[in-house]
Amino acid sequence: MAVVGIHGHGASHVRNAARLAAAGRAELVAVADPRGAADLPAGVQVFAGLDDLLATTQVDIVVICTPIQTHLPLAELAMRAGADVLLEKPPTASMAEFQRLSAVAAETGRACQVGFQAQASEATLKLAAMMAAGELGEIRGISAVGKWVRTAQYFGRAQWSGRRRLDGVDVVDGAVTNPLAHATAAALLLDGSTGVDDVRSIETELYRANPIESDDTSAVRITTGRGTPILIAVTLCAEEHSEATVVVHGSQRRAVLTYQSDLLDGTKYGRADLLENLIAHRADASVPLYVPLAATGGFTRVVEAVRTAADPLPIAPEFVRWEGAGPDRRPIVQDVEHWVERAADTLSLFTEIGVPWAKPR
Ligand SMILES: NC(=O)c1ccc[n+]([C@@H]2O[C@H](COP(=O)([O-])OP(=O)(O)OC[C@H]3O[C@@H](n4cnc5c(N)ncnc54)[C@H](O)[C@@H]3O)[C@@H](O)[C@H]2O)c1
Repeated sequence: MAVVGIHGHGASHVRNAARLAAAGRAELVAVADPRGAADLPAGVQVFAGLDDLLATTQVDIVVICTPIQTHLPLAELAMRAGADVLLEKPPTASMAEFQRLSAVAAETGRACQVGFQAQASEATLKLAAMMAAGELGEIRGISAVGKWVRTAQYFGRAQWSGRRRLDGVDVVDGAVTNPLAHATAAALLLDGSTGVDDVRSIETELYRANPIESDDTSAVRITTGRGTPILIAVTLCAEEHSEATVVVHGSQRRAVLTYQSDLLDGTKYGRADLLENLIAHRADASVPLYVPLAATGGFTRVVEAVRTAADPLPIAPEFVRWEGAGPDRRPIVQDVEHWVERAADTLSLFTEIGVPWAKPR
């Protein structure tokens, strides 16, 4: 196998490959990154790009952990070279790219697993099973709450960070579509609405406090084909960082999934590994992938809605407090925790609950 893009989140894929190599399940033969590489296991070849790598090295699996706008070309290159792919989320920056990638997967017959690791969590799957069994009563809605802290260092780490487009190419690196993408994807999974045709409508309210192009504080309401309202309320400008949650609003009770820690109503569950699952699927096609590309179609509808929405509105300076200096500098949006919780609790957009910095378009 090979890993493409190794200095950011890709470092964790290199570590995972080494773990599977130690267990005799895989062999990391090469990596590709224009920034080069150091501290790799002995014998791993290093290339500047995936094209060079594939020209001289034969691999069964390519893990792609590069900027969003490179996902489609790199995944296409890997599949056309006969490799199966573990592609980081969000799989593509637009619906057109998603359709193109789906067509390449169908044409080449290669597998594409998408890196929504929370979908391989037993906590997520247990909650989905509880909902299906009616244990929460009638499902009135699902909400996702993300109250995160991101500093100037995060947005300054790469050219593509915080961009909607770069050099004329879609990137769509906003709070909803990238850092907190797992929340939306998990909510769609819980509703059984992962497919491209499972989403009926999407309303977006995108704002930003940072000097970036994309959204850092947003509310998005998805209505799924079965009529479930899914309210995503997220910010990267919280006072304090806390774990994201997905809340299922049942007529009998609510359930809370803390997907980063595999917690369901405070109980810890296990999680399968997406790469191991891809290896098992290669060996036996009857083993289903946890996150096949097709199961990210509903999520990609949200990416498309954010991509085609008007540019995020800047939050007026009187509602933003700045803390820290240099790489630690960050904005804190006034009362944002309260408003994000309130939006999620009532399945409402910011303008519907009187958020003072939210303006109807
Ligand atoms: N699943 C998760 O929880 C999770 C977490 C973080 C990031 N991600 C995803 O991982 C991807 C990368 O994010 P990041 O934050 O690590 O980005 P990053 O910009 O910090 O790192 C990207 C790496 O890819 C390399 N790179 C850039 N273009 C390349 C190319 N054409 N070929 C090979 N290498 C290339 C860069 O040199 C860098 O090493 C994104 O899709 C992101 O959403 C997923």
